[in-house]
Amino acid sequence: MTKKTIILGIETSCDETAVALVQDTDNDIPKVLSNVVSSQFDIHKEFGGVVPELAARSHVEKINLLANKAILESKVKISEISGVACTSGPGLIICLSVGLNFAKGMASTLKIPFIGVNHLEGHALSPKLHTKLEYPYLLLLISGGHSQYLSVNGLGDYKRLGTTIDDALGEAYDKTAKLLGIEFPGGPKIEEYAKKGNSNKYNLPKPIINKGGCNLSFAGLKTAILRITKNFKTEQEKFDLAASFQKTIEDILIVKTQIAIDEFKKLNFKNDSSFIIAGGVAANKGIRNKLIQLSNKNNFKPIFPDLKFCGDNAAMIAMVGLEKFKSKQFDTLDLPANPRLPLDENAKFLKGAGTVLD
Ligand code: KG4
Ligand code: ZN
Repeated sequence: MTKKTIILGIETSCDETAVALVQDTDNDIPKVLSNVVSSQFDIHKEFGGVVPELAARSHVEKINLLANKAILESKVKISEISGVACTSGPGLIICLSVGLNFAKGMASTLKIPFIGVNHLEGHALSPKLHTKLEYPYLLLLISGGHSQYLSVNGLGDYKRLGTTIDDALGEAYDKTAKLLGIEFPGGPKIEEYAKKGNSNKYNLPKPIINKGGCNLSFAGLKTAILRITKNFKTEQEKFDLAASFQKTIEDILIVKTQIAIDEFKKLNFKNDSSFIIAGGVAANKGIRNKLIQLSNKNNFKPIFPDLKFCGDNAAMIAMVGLEKFKSKQFDTLDLPANPRLPLDENAKFLKGAGTVLD
């Protein structure tokens, strides 16, 4: 019997240090042998956001320890590892460099292939860690750093349908939370607050709702919320604001997702397509329910990655590494970290002041 390929994956693009080992199988769904993640919430919470230098320092302190832990938990001998995969972008450059240096050192010492992985490709393919998926499928990636609609056509083959032109959705949740005095990352707490509030109390803006196709914009919400929260005196006002914010986001996603579905259908004449909703914000139950309803209405099959693969993790990086390994897509040891590595190289850069939308 031939030995199955085993890939060690590393993720250090932002504030999670993560190492995982996955093994190839005969059924297209790789076996996750270990998946260790160390989050840095405590380090950044007093700053209300990720501080790159502190994040990188913590990655340096932990990477060795976590790699040892992941290998021990996988019960694999180091000599059995076939290749090392690591996120090379997008992300914070000093954080990416920590993982890349470690991965390159390991690959070079063990004399095995090194594979650079796009972090977004990890999220895009993450449901393949537990579900058989057929290309093409529609993807909504909603995390602390990214918000994109993509047509996923195959490994390395993506068409971006829409993206945020300013803040990512997770960022919008975190900024709203901060204005309500909730510690970073406040997204999950907003959901709890929203349950206790009146969602019709505040009328919040829905930026670019009637233009820009399925591109997204959330920065205007923060300005409106800042104005409203200035005069807050009671907890109930906070709950009402959280509920109004949650409802506004759901309304925006319903409109923009319908546009993305229509665009996807135009590109891919295929019934029963899958719709994957990935990234940390995909944990939000209100958003989940609305997107499930919309998928059913459009005959799409909604799929959410398991929660442990929703946020940043290294199993998704190892899995993409495994797919690239099988098609011999190796990288040389001079592969640089790329903080803006895109998934769709042909997509226009749409961010910041002066962005022109169709
Ligand atoms: O994918 P992720 O773990 O890391 C990034 O790549 O950014 O996403 C983290 C983001 C944070 O902004 C966090 O507040 C948000 O996901 N988030 C949520 C929920 N759980 C996590 N936002 C809204 N509702 C949630 N339940
Ligand atoms: Zn991510």
